Amino acid sequence: MKFFVDTAEVAEIRDLAATGLLDGVTTNPTLAAKAGRPFVDLVKDICAIVTGPVSAEVVATETDGMLRQARALRAIADNVTIKLPLTPDGLRACRTLADEGTAVNVTLCFSAAQAILAAKAGAAFVSPFVGRLDDIGQDGMSLIGDIVQIYANYPAFTTEVLVASVRHPIHVVDAARLGADVVTVPPKVLRQLFNHPLTDAGLTAFLADWDKTGQTLPEA
Ligand code: E4P
Repeated sequence: MKFFVDTAEVAEIRDLAATGLLDGVTTNPTLAAKAGRPFVDLVKDICAIVTGPVSAEVVATETDGMLRQARALRAIADNVTIKLPLTPDGLRACRTLADEGTAVNVTLCFSAAQAILAAKAGAAFVSPFVGRLDDIGQDGMSLIGDIVQIYANYPAFTTEVLVASVRHPIHVVDAARLGADVVTVPPKVLRQLFNHPLTDAGLTAFLADWDKTGQTLPEA
């Protein structure tokens, strides 16, 4: 399973990339607005930190405008993935970009039917938003199970399932259990994955016992 981080904060991305666990980055217009800097510079900086896919989203809503913005964004760096909304215009743009060899992340997916369309449009990734479904009382993770199963039925579908709108570590574990290809997680959730109180308690006890020996370990 690949880990993407869902943020446009360059300092956070640099910090998390240093863990060696980061396979890519997703941004969206809300996250970009929070970063408060020119978007093209922002994407350039992120792409210089991470070698994997970096999703940059268009804000045009008609196919032609989406294509113009997508072509400018993909020129920023080789690892830019174009993020397009799951609308008829977005999927039309997706087909054109995919035929040109550009990786597309189709975002704002909330149903299995939409995910089928994204795959048929040649998306490299589809982003089902599990947290936002949970927020309205639906089961976001059951959508992931459905999409993974449907895509497995059709080997010609090469679209990867990118679990988005992740709120907590259980979402990550459930996504992995279901065989999702990628999770994109807020920095806070990525850090939470490391934590367990028994790890902390165990380490404290091991180090206290070691201290009693008065020894030091050799270092190469
Ligand atoms: C995905 O690419 C989106 O940027 C993101 O996961 C949305 O998450 P939210 O529902 O927490 O805003």
